[in-house]
Amino acid sequence: PYSDADPCWLRYTKNESLEGIPRLAKITVHGSSEQIRSALAELVYGMTEMTGSVPETAEDPNGLEANVVRLVQFDEALPERLRELAPFHDLHEEGYVIRSVPENGGESILVAGKSGKGVLYGTFHLLRLMQTGDLRSGLQILENPRNGLRMMNHWDNMDGSIERGYAGQSIFFKDNEFVRDQARIRDYARLVASVGINGVAINNVNVHKTETQLITSRFLPDVAEVAGIFRRYGIALFLSVNYASPIELGGLDTADPLDSRVRAWWKEKAAEIYGHIPDFGGFVVKADSEHRPGPFTYNRTHADGSNMLAEALAPYGGIVVWRCFVYNCLQDWRDRTTDRARAAYDHFKPLDGQFKQNVVLQIKNGPMDFQVREPVSPLFGAMPETNQMAEFQITQEYTGQQKHLCYLVPQWKEVLDFDTFARGKGTEVKKIVAGETYPYAHSGMAAVINVGDDPNWTGHTLAQANLYGFGRLAWNPDLSEEAITAEWIRLTFGKDEKVYQVLRSMLAESWRVYESYTSPLGIGWMVNPGHHYGPNVDGYEYSVWGTYHYADCRGMGVNRTVKDGTGYTAQYYPENMERYESPETCPDELLLFFHHVPYTHTLHSGKTVIQHIYDSHFEGVEGVEAFIERWQGLEGRIDAKRHAQVMERLRIQLAHAREWRDVVNTYFFRKSGIEDRHGRPIY
Ligand code: GCU
Repeated sequence: PYSDADPCWLRYTKNESLEGIPRLAKITVHGSSEQIRSALAELVYGMTEMTGSVPETAEDPNGLEANVVRLVQFDEALPERLRELAPFHDLHEEGYVIRSVPENGGESILVAGKSGKGVLYGTFHLLRLMQTGDLRSGLQILENPRNGLRMMNHWDNMDGSIERGYAGQSIFFKDNEFVRDQARIRDYARLVASVGINGVAINNVNVHKTETQLITSRFLPDVAEVAGIFRRYGIALFLSVNYASPIELGGLDTADPLDSRVRAWWKEKAAEIYGHIPDFGGFVVKADSEHRPGPFTYNRTHADGSNMLAEALAPYGGIVVWRCFVYNCLQDWRDRTTDRARAAYDHFKPLDGQFKQNVVLQIKNGPMDFQVREPVSPLFGAMPETNQMAEFQITQEYTGQQKHLCYLVPQWKEVLDFDTFARGKGTEVKKIVAGETYPYAHSGMAAVINVGDDPNWTGHTLAQANLYGFGRLAWNPDLSEEAITAEWIRLTFGKDEKVYQVLRSMLAESWRVYESYTSPLGIGWMVNPGHHYGPNVDGYEYSVWGTYHYADCRGMGVNRTVKDGTGYTAQYYPENMERYESPETCPDELLLFFHHVPYTHTLHSGKTVIQHIYDSHFEGVEGVEAFIERWQGLEGRIDAKRHAQVMERLRIQLAHAREWRDVVNTYFFRKSGIEDRHGRPIY
C-alpha cells in the first residue's frame, strides 16, 4: 500500500497455513508489461504479509524454474513448454488461468494471461485464495470477464467536493487543482483493479466551469499523470466533458454537432488529448439533462451529438459513453400526460441503429433515478442495433447516504437477472449489457462510486461491500449474492464463523429493511429536496421534477397503465407489460409505481396498502434494532476501531429510521384516517 488508508479487502493478514509451502518461496515472471510488474509487486507484498517471509523473484522467460509461482503473459516469444501449460486459445484479452502444475516432484502455480491485465486479475484471484485459506493443490481455474466495460463513474468536482459523495472529499482534486500526494490514487487503483475494474471516469457528469478545462493544456499533463497510475493497473481513464466545450473553450458561437467548425474543433481536441494520453478511454457525456447543454439546442438528435464526438475519438480507439438520463425536469404536477419514467425510452428508442460503433448508451438501472425500488428500465433490450451498458449507483444517494447499512448487491442481482423477453424468455438484462444478446461492439456495466478521502474510503465501513460487490458482478453477473458476500466478509474481517454469520445476515436483510422504513411499494422519493436525505413525503410532490406519489384522502400511486394512465407499461415487451398493466399481477413491491389504488386495496400479501405501510415502517425500525443487537455480539471478535465505527453508524441509522417511520406513518394516517389494526402509537 502507498497510503495508510484502510486496506479494505486487500488485507493480507498472517496466515499460518501458508507458511513453509515450498512453491510460495519464489515467484518467476515471463512478460514485461506494466501490468505484470504491478501484479508481481502486489504478489510479493501480499505473500510477504501472509507467509511472514519475502519471496524471491526472478525473470524466467523460458519457464525453467520449477516449484514456484509463475506469472506468465503470452507473447510471441513464449516457449513451447509454457504455451502447453495454459489454454491460451480459450482466453479473452483480459482473461486468465490459474493452474497447479506438477513438476520435479513438487508443484508450481501458474498464473497466465494473454495480456498483462489478465495476469494482474489472475494474481488478485490467487491472492484471494490465499487470504481466504482456499489455496489447494490441483487448481484449475479459467476466467474471462463477461462484461467488456467495467467502469467507475466519479462525480468528483475539482474544488474537492463530490456530488452525492458521503465519504469525504475527492481523492483526485482539491482547490481546483489535482492533488499532489498521489498515494490514495495509487491505492485506489489497486483496490478497483483487484475486482476487475478497467475504466474510470474521474470527474462529475455535471461538468462545471473549471472541469470543462480538464481537456485543455492547463490540466492535460495532470490528467496524463493519473492515467499513468491507472495504466499500471489496467485501467483506462475517461473524462466527463461539457457538450458546450467548443463555445466555452473554443470561442465558437455554436456547439451544433453538424457544424463543420464544431466537428473540426473536437477532432483537434481529440488529437491533443491522445498526444498526452495514448490510451485515453474516451468521454462520458450528460447532455440535455438537468440543465446541461446538448444537441437539442440545435434541433439535433442525440445520435447527431454523440456521433460527432465518436468521430473525433474513433481514430484513436476511444469511445463515447452517452448517458440516457434525459428527461424534462420542469414538469407541472397537474400535467398527467408527461411521465418522467417514459423519458429515456421515448428519447432513445426511435434512434436505434443511428449511433456509431464507438458510442455506447449508458442506461440507469431504473427509469427514474436510483430509488430504493423501481422497475428495470424498459430501454434495456429495446435497441438491438445500438450498444448499451447499465449504470448503477454505488454511492447511496437514495439508499441511506452511507449512514444507513444498505447492501445493494441483492438489488443489482434483481436488475441483472430481470428477464426483458427482448428475444423471448431468457433475455436477461445481464446478457444484453454483456453484449451476448445482440453483438454489441462495446457494452458492460458502470457505477457511480461511493469513495472519498475518508480513512475507510466509504464512510460506512460496511459500504465497502457495495464497492467490492459491484466489481465482482461486473466481472461475472452470474456470481451469487451469497458467494460475493462470503468472499467479502472473509477478506475484510477474517474467518471467524460468528462474524461471518452475523454480517451475512445483516447484509442480506439490509436493503429490504431500509426499503421498509422509507418509501413503500415502489413509489420512491418522499425525501427532503436537494440533498435527498430524511423523510419528507411531500418534498417533491408539488415541484417540477416529475416525481409524484399523488396521495390524497382516498389513495395513492401513479397510474402508468396503457388503459387509462401514462402508457409507460407499453414500453416493456408484452410479457412484462401484461404483468405490470394489471394490479392483479403487478408485484406488490412495485404496485404504487404502476397503479393508483385506494388505501384499502388488498395486496398479494393479504394486507391492505395502508396496513402494509404501517407494518413495514414498524418492522423496518425493529430490523435496525436487531442489527444493533447482533453487531453488539461481535464486540471483541473484530478490531475495536471498525466495530465502534459501524456501531456509531447503526445508532444514527436507528434514530433516523424512527424518524422516517413516524413521519411516513403519521402522514398516511392523517391522509387516510384509517387506524392501525394493531393500535400502535402513530404520531
Ligand atoms: C441524480 C442526482 C444528480 C445527478 C443526476 C445524474 O438526479 O441527484 O446529482 O447529477 O442524478 O445522474 O446525472
